[in-house]
Amino acid sequence: MSKLRLESKVAIITGAASGIGEATARLFVEHGAFVVVADIQDELGHQVAASIGLVKASYRHCDVRDEKQVEETVAYALEKYGTLDIMYSNAGIAGSATGILDLDLEGFDSTMAINVRGMAITIKHAARAMVARKIRGSIICTTSVAASIAGCGSSSYTASKHAILGLIRSACGELGVHGIRVNCVSPFGVATPLSCGIVNLDPSGMEDLTYAISNLKGIVLKARHIGEAALFLASDESAFISGHNLVVDGGFTVVSQNIPPLIKWPQSSPFL
Ligand SMILES: NC(=O)c1ccc[n+]([C@@H]2O[C@H](COP(=O)([O-])OP(=O)(O)OC[C@H]3O[C@@H](n4cnc5c(N)ncnc54)[C@H](O)[C@@H]3O)[C@@H](O)[C@H]2O)c1
Repeated sequence: MSKLRLESKVAIITGAASGIGEATARLFVEHGAFVVVADIQDELGHQVAASIGLVKASYRHCDVRDEKQVEETVAYALEKYGTLDIMYSNAGIAGSATGILDLDLEGFDSTMAINVRGMAITIKHAARAMVARKIRGSIICTTSVAASIAGCGSSSYTASKHAILGLIRSACGELGVHGIRVNCVSPFGVATPLSCGIVNLDPSGMEDLTYAISNLKGIVLKARHIGEAALFLASDESAFISGHNLVVDGGFTVVSQNIPPLIKWPQSSPFL
């Protein structure tokens, strides 16, 4: 049997009661980690922790808008498991769906409060704990393909996801001296309550939609695929990777969606 990739590591995952965070919590535990499932959906969060098994997982109410709750969640992980190796800051919302001409500023602020400010708070408190204990930890944030290109979400969502890139790069620059790595993962469309809510489809309808517009065929993107990217960034396999945006989109953001392929390049093309 291969070595567990997160053997005895301790992780906090925000937004882990559902979707990508939940799938990642399961994967991290399969790879030997202890995980704090941090979320605001208490019933669901308790269920997720219980179904993983309460020896390896526990639920903690943590609203990432509230600095005190984030600080207490970090303290809880340290107290319960003795250390904190991984902070996966994943909680996010789709936010207000208005376009720029009708921009709903309250919606803009509440999107920023969770997607950006919340992530900044989690980085701050995880990093403080790691620095104080000389832990060479890994901090990971979930951003989105909407951090690379427009057209994948509202103005608020796109701005918030772009901001996370700045946040992780800045934190990477400051925390490198402490041996702490800071990276992010950028998912393409995954069927979760968040994405299904935006397009008003059930999970299989959402997967069909994503598949139809996907560059990579023959595979349907699942929450677990995003978890596997986070697992890589959390593990020692990415020991020298910091400040990186690991895009999990099957090439979607690097291939033009607008220009039809005018020329089909044959393998034998003299231009290759
Ligand atoms: N699903 C996709 O297609 C997709 C694509 C790109 C990026 N993302 C990002 O992935 C992350 C996870 O989303 P998901 O798709 O798994 O959605 P989801 O709705 O299944 O999970 C999001 C979780 O975040 C929690 N949450 C919301 N506000 C919170 C707060 N203030 N404090 C703590 N927890 C809070 C929710 O309760 C929920 O459990 C988000 O950051 C989202 O922007 C998702």
